[in-house]
Amino acid sequence: MRGHARASANFALVKYWGKRDAALNLPARGSLSVTVDALYTETTVIFEPDLAADCLSVDGRPRPGAATLRASRVLDLIRAAAGASLRARVLSKNSFPYGAGLASSASSMAALSLAAARALGLDLSLERLSVIARHGSGSAARSLHGGYVLWREGTRADGEDAHGSQLHPPEHWPLRVLVALVDAGEKDTSSSQGMQETARSSPLYAGWLDSVNPDLEAAQLALAARDLAALGEVMERSCLTMHAAMMSARPGLLYWRAATVALIHRVRALRAEGLGVYFTIDAGPHVKALCAPKDEAAVRAALEATPGVTRVIACGVGGPAR
Ligand code: DP6
Repeated sequence: MRGHARASANFALVKYWGKRDAALNLPARGSLSVTVDALYTETTVIFEPDLAADCLSVDGRPRPGAATLRASRVLDLIRAAAGASLRARVLSKNSFPYGAGLASSASSMAALSLAAARALGLDLSLERLSVIARHGSGSAARSLHGGYVLWREGTRADGEDAHGSQLHPPEHWPLRVLVALVDAGEKDTSSSQGMQETARSSPLYAGWLDSVNPDLEAAQLALAARDLAALGEVMERSCLTMHAAMMSARPGLLYWRAATVALIHRVRALRAEGLGVYFTIDAGPHVKALCAPKDEAAVRAALEATPGVTRVIACGVGGPAR
């Protein structure tokens, strides 16, 4: 009745921002990510006969409310698959700040789905676990697999075909991702809420959606060819187009801080000096810089020297949940 799993976070090269079905957490468009090894969640799930409700603790702190509700959505699907009804105690530990726009929901829901399945003796495929983890958080659909992962939006109304698939294993292209942390605080607008507000009120939302499929195609070609300049160009424009749509929601949604903007300029200045480095930013102030291993030391030094940066975490391409 006890299972343990570890899953890595992932960063989208082509972003997910908008849902075609909020209840089933189905994305409006596909997205493409890289799984990262240094940011991960380790989760233990224990199903216990005397628990009245699921309870969750993250990094030693009880998390009733929204986080537990998300976890219960995943646990309900695992219970249904196993024909079980016991409630669970979930103990989750992150190797990085939780809830700060660093994809903790992706790694935590992916680890939870695998740990809960194992606790109840289920041997589910990564695709099946991806569908289940998606109900807790969309980006978690991409965190079961290692390497470079495509999450298709699918066509089925029940969402069973909206799962992550590995495009390339980590060995295909051992790029580095340097995460420049700007602010340790938890964000005040969740991705779910931000997406909903953007879809409802941004005049740029339709344009954002139109941009995704061409970017997905271009990113897949660049990945297959290991063309960093081509991939970096798509990654930056997907990021900026998504943020433009968020910023033009009403009220405008701005996750950036002064240091975020400084980091964008720093990455571009490094490029002008001949380094192959590209940025992306998710629903938080941190900046992730993608580069080849040979440029890592120079990029790291430049990010660390940018005012407002508290810490840089270096990641390689990570493996699957296990
Ligand atoms: C900006 O997966 O956290 O990181 O499905 O509502 O839980 P929910 O959202 P979430 O959104 C991630 C948004 C993003 C872009 C991305 O990872 O593709």
